[in-house]
Amino acid sequence: MVANRTSADGGMETSYGFRDVAEGEKQGLVNDVFHKVAKRYDIMNDVMSAGLHRVWKDAMIAALNPRKDPDYRTLDVAGGTGDIAFRIVEASKRLAHSTVLDINGSMLAVGQERAQKKGLGDNLTFVEANAEELPFEANSFDAYTIAFGIRNVPRIDLALSEAFRVLKRGGRLLVLEFSEVQMPLLDRVYDEWSFKAIPKFGKMITGDAEPYQYLVESIRKFPNQKDFAVMIETAGFSKVSFTNYTGGIAALHSGWKI
Ligand SMILES: C[S@@+](CC[C@H](N)C(=O)[O-])C[C@H]1O[C@@H](n2cnc3c(N)ncnc32)[C@H](O)[C@@H]1O
Repeated sequence: MVANRTSADGGMETSYGFRDVAEGEKQGLVNDVFHKVAKRYDIMNDVMSAGLHRVWKDAMIAALNPRKDPDYRTLDVAGGTGDIAFRIVEASKRLAHSTVLDINGSMLAVGQERAQKKGLGDNLTFVEANAEELPFEANSFDAYTIAFGIRNVPRIDLALSEAFRVLKRGGRLLVLEFSEVQMPLLDRVYDEWSFKAIPKFGKMITGDAEPYQYLVESIRKFPNQKDFAVMIETAGFSKVSFTNYTGGIAALHSGWKI
């Protein structure tokens, strides 16, 4: 049931979950997934992670420790419905600015609606674009964040080199992603939950199990903590490190452009 993880040498661009797809095909399939789930995405996140995604996202923002400064500019890539950008702005006492970038207009539409309801509109800009080709000048941002997004991007090496390009010198990269469970028993419980329960809940809540089958499979194909750290270093980042959350179910990778 469980496929091998992708190595640091790449290969994610031709894997759609456990299926091999042609080069250039993955992005369209991923976009279909997020168009389908956008309206129920936030509810499903709580169900799938039993609320833990909130704890991991809070920990990511604590690690970032955003400056309380109107000149502090962050870019949240694959920002979807806005969870990370909202937290950054709130942690900066509503002083910082965050650009939420996503390739999927349906996810961004939900994010924009949530931002308006929270009164955060002035601190946020929403941009529909591809992480592999960022529409920003070099050296533009103090921080680049991406949460549960990078494994969906076909060419991860391109996304990381774009992250490096748009960050200012001294800027910080933070990547939150599902990773390899490092605790013996927990990995078995987690497999049962992922492959048996999550697609069923997905069908109950969104009417379709397939997007959630992809999501759990894509988690298992993503490079493990060490291999992903190598990919970040290869893109040019320094002082690369990672912290496991909940036994490695998720991991936060950090790197600096110096
Ligand atoms: C699992 S969601 C994560 C959303 C949000 N960051 C969060 O943590 O809740 C993954 C997001 O990645 C986006 N995505 C996939 N491929 C992308 C790409 N090439 N460029 C930008 N965003 C992409 C999807 O549209 C989706 O909104």
